Amino acid sequence: MSESQKVLIVDDEPRNLRIILETLDGFAEAKVASSGEEALKVVDEFLPDLVLLDIMMPGIDGYEVCKKIKSHPGLNLTKVILVSGKAMLNERLKGYEAGADDYMTKPFAPEELHAKAKVFLRLARVEKELEELNQSLEKKVEERTQQLLEAESKLINSAKMAALGEMAGGIAHEVNTPLGTIGLLGDQIEELVTEDPIDRTTIIGMTQGISETVRRITSIVQGLRTFSRDASNDRFDSIAIKRIIDDTLTLCQEKIKYGNIRMQIGNIPPDLVLSCRPVQISQVLVNVINNACDAILPLSERWIKIDAEKKDNFIELSVTDSGSGISEEVRNKIFQPFFTTKEIGKGTGLGLSISQGILKAHHGTLDIDPNCRNTRFVLRFLSNLEVSLQKSA
Ligand SMILES: Nc1ncnc2c1ncn2[C@@H]1O[C@H](COP(=O)(O)OP(=O)(O)OP(=O)(O)O)[C@@H](O)[C@H]1O
Ligand SMILES: [Mg+2]
Repeated sequence: MSESQKVLIVDDEPRNLRIILETLDGFAEAKVASSGEEALKVVDEFLPDLVLLDIMMPGIDGYEVCKKIKSHPGLNLTKVILVSGKAMLNERLKGYEAGADDYMTKPFAPEELHAKAKVFLRLARVEKELEELNQSLEKKVEERTQQLLEAESKLINSAKMAALGEMAGGIAHEVNTPLGTIGLLGDQIEELVTEDPIDRTTIIGMTQGISETVRRITSIVQGLRTFSRDASNDRFDSIAIKRIIDDTLTLCQEKIKYGNIRMQIGNIPPDLVLSCRPVQISQVLVNVINNACDAILPLSERWIKIDAEKKDNFIELSVTDSGSGISEEVRNKIFQPFFTTKEIGKGTGLGLSISQGILKAHHGTLDIDPNCRNTRFVLRFLSNLEVSLQKSA
């Protein structure tokens, strides 16, 4: 077991070197050095597990060699036993200060040196094994963390895809209706241009109608494209909250119409600006609005109100629905990943946990307002986020 371990013996007396070599006979691979200088040259290549080191030597003495070995990056587990005729307490202490692991006084009993060398070689081996184990554990933890991060990003993607799937039907309708309008206007223009005289005013009105409808489709497609991409590395941007809300509502329009839900937008000042990753905030709002639509669908009174205001150091963006709040039992769980009360296939239960993660990355919070008699979700942002982000950069 100890064959592969290495011992370096350092002494300027050839007789001592010989005695120690004989003592260690066979149980470790041994090398000798007859001066401190030579020892320091040898250790670089030899990388001993144990050094038996004389103190009194011409040139670099044992204390110095010991210090150098102990500060050598490749020898942090190497054990050093000082072997010397110096036996005074303060000399032994000086040796320990230099980093020595033990001390042997000359003349020594060969059996004791043999036994000590064995103990320290075993210690060196165990420490080495521990270090290797530690490294492999660290590597494993790193690999696992990486796997978890990948799994998390896959989950986020699948939750987003589920939301997209849910919206797809509605959006197809959102796009189809204006496309029908464009087709109709096109047909009418085709007919009008064959008439004599040509009614330019009507035709111009119709082409304007086409342009407007195209703009509407473009904004829906744009919103969809934005929603479906990963925005976690986007830069922070200053954007009017009103604009984020409008863009988000384009995506939820059909679900709101289908549920016959009255949508109210509060009196949001157009200059209320948020420093954020707009796409991510829109993703949070889509989640919260979709949840609200689902929750109030069975109710006879169906409305959702979106509001935003500045309060001291915060900007609050809230989505309130006509539901009558969420029971404490459910409230304690809704931000947990995979918690859902929806049927299988209807919800992944990831919407709110992902949304909360997004708010956290914005140094903000997402909470339920426990004091509201309806169901009210509140997104809170630091109003001077830009300043604090600059400070922490
Ligand atoms: N406005 C709300 N009113 C009542 N319950 C709600 C409301 N919003 C969320 N919940 C509850 O919180 C649960 C978790 O919501 P979350 O958005 O995390 O997942 P989900 O909507 O079930 O699934 P997903 O968002 O992945 O489609 C919902 O299943 C629902 O029970
Ligand atoms: Mg949801």
